[in-house]
Amino acid sequence: MSGHLRWDPCVRIGVEEIDLEHQTFVVLINQLDHYLQQPEMAERILQALAKYVAFHFQSEENMMFAAAYPGLEAHRRIHLSLLEQLNNVLLKLRGGESSYAETLEFLRQWYCSHTSVEDMKFGEFLKNQP
Ligand SMILES: [Fe+2]
Ligand SMILES: [Fe+2]
Repeated sequence: MSGHLRWDPCVRIGVEEIDLEHQTFVVLINQLDHYLQQPEMAERILQALAKYVAFHFQSEENMMFAAAYPGLEAHRRIHLSLLEQLNNVLLKLRGGESSYAETLEFLRQWYCSHTSVEDMKFGEFLKNQP
C-alpha cells in the first residue's frame, strides 16, 4: 500500500493561485490512492484529474502571459508534452496494459518533477521582479 502524497511546502512556488491549484492536484492524487480498489470511483477521479490538469495548465500559462514571463513558450511546450504523456498512460490503462496503481505512480512522479523544477522557475522569476 502506497503512502499519501503530502503537500510539500518545498514545492510552494510562491504564487498563491498556483500553489492552491497544486494543492488541489495533490488532493485528487490522494483520492485516487484511496479508491484504487474501486474501479468505478478511480475512473471518476481520473476523469476529474485529467480535466483539472487541462484547466491548471491553462491557468498557469495565463498567469505567465500576464507577467510577461520569457519562459512561457518553453513552458507551454512542456505542458503539451505532459498532456501527451498523460494521454498515453490513460490509453494504456484503458487498454488493460496497466493498472490504477501504476497510473497513480506515474501521476506522482509526473506532478512532482514538473512542479519542483519548471513551475518553480516561474516562481523564482516573479520573486525577482521589481
Ligand atoms: Fe503547475
Ligand atoms: Fe507548469
